[in-house]
Amino acid sequence: ADASDLRPEAWTVSSNTAVKLSFVDEEGAVQFTPTFTYPIYGDSEQIFGYQDLQILLAFDSVTFKPFCNVKFGAKLADTDDNVQDKLLKYLPDGDVIVKDEIAWVDTFNKERESFTLPDESKKVASYSREGHNFAVYKVDLHDDNVKKLHRRMQIFTLFLIESASYIDEGDEGWELYMSFNTGNKQCVGYSTTYKYWKYMGARNFDSTDKTFQTGKISQFLVFPPYQGVGHGSELYNAIINDWLADTKVIEITVEDPNEDFDSLRDRNDLKRLYASGIASEIPRELPIKNEWIEAQRSIFKIEKRQFQRLIEMLLLHICS
Ligand code: ACO
Repeated sequence: ADASDLRPEAWTVSSNTAVKLSFVDEEGAVQFTPTFTYPIYGDSEQIFGYQDLQILLAFDSVTFKPFCNVKFGAKLADTDDNVQDKLLKYLPDGDVIVKDEIAWVDTFNKERESFTLPDESKKVASYSREGHNFAVYKVDLHDDNVKKLHRRMQIFTLFLIESASYIDEGDEGWELYMSFNTGNKQCVGYSTTYKYWKYMGARNFDSTDKTFQTGKISQFLVFPPYQGVGHGSELYNAIINDWLADTKVIEITVEDPNEDFDSLRDRNDLKRLYASGIASEIPRELPIKNEWIEAQRSIFKIEKRQFQRLIEMLLLHICS
């Protein structure tokens, strides 16, 4: 062998580029790479012992039936061959079709025949984009179809959201909001949410403790092939509107939002505040009194810190 082949670098690949994700539909496959792979391949996100390693993980775009195929140009003799096992651990047991692409296509085509969207009664919003119709459904893991789909797609929380971990399926409190193209039945994104009972303190001792809830957005994602055309905003607004209409929910929070989510949230919260006419009611006497902030933010069910940021942004907008 060439001496350069003995350098460790020649046998080290980034797991973020070795993993190739794809969605398959009638028109072919769309390929993209994960943002994170450290939960699967370790903190350094590097895999040692292979050359030209490709870990292909494909999903049918409707059923999310997974397919996995690991390919490489060369492998060091003493490498333990576990890149595939490490990945399969995060996918539903026995559900992934390995290597046999024809069997995979046959299986998802068969599954598609009986694949249905959630019941109409679960629909909380609908919209259209680029000539296609979409709807957001509020579903839960009691529904076997939802459970099956969620088990297949939850690996995307690891690939796309930093410090994500799998939700406890046995906990009955999870509610999922899922966005589907209602024509071809593709799921474009989803969010896991949870409602917590909020203890109101002695101030409200007349009421029972279990009266008010905080709605929390936990994991939120739009699958990469569908990003950047507004699905994230539609999904976010569907959740917010559902909670604004729910009299038990008095506050809405988000678990560890990242920069992209903050931007999406700010844009949509600002639009909502602006449309309400609040901009013209902001007291001009600074600092703004806490009573005003508390009274207003409770109408919009926005957390205090977020509400103060939004008011500052509105003030900047008005004064500029
Ligand atoms: N035409 C062109 N551009 C548009 C359109 C349109 N019709 N609609 C929106 N956009 C732009 C927006 O202005 C925005 O631009 P910006 O990024 O410069 O601000 C951009 O597209 C994204 O907005 P949306 O399309 O509404 O959002 P998207 O559907 O892309 O979803 C999200 C955003 C959820 C952050 C997505 O990128 C994603 O899933 N990322 C990976 C996972 C992730 O980071 N999730 C959040 C983690 S935090 C948490 O889970 C609580």
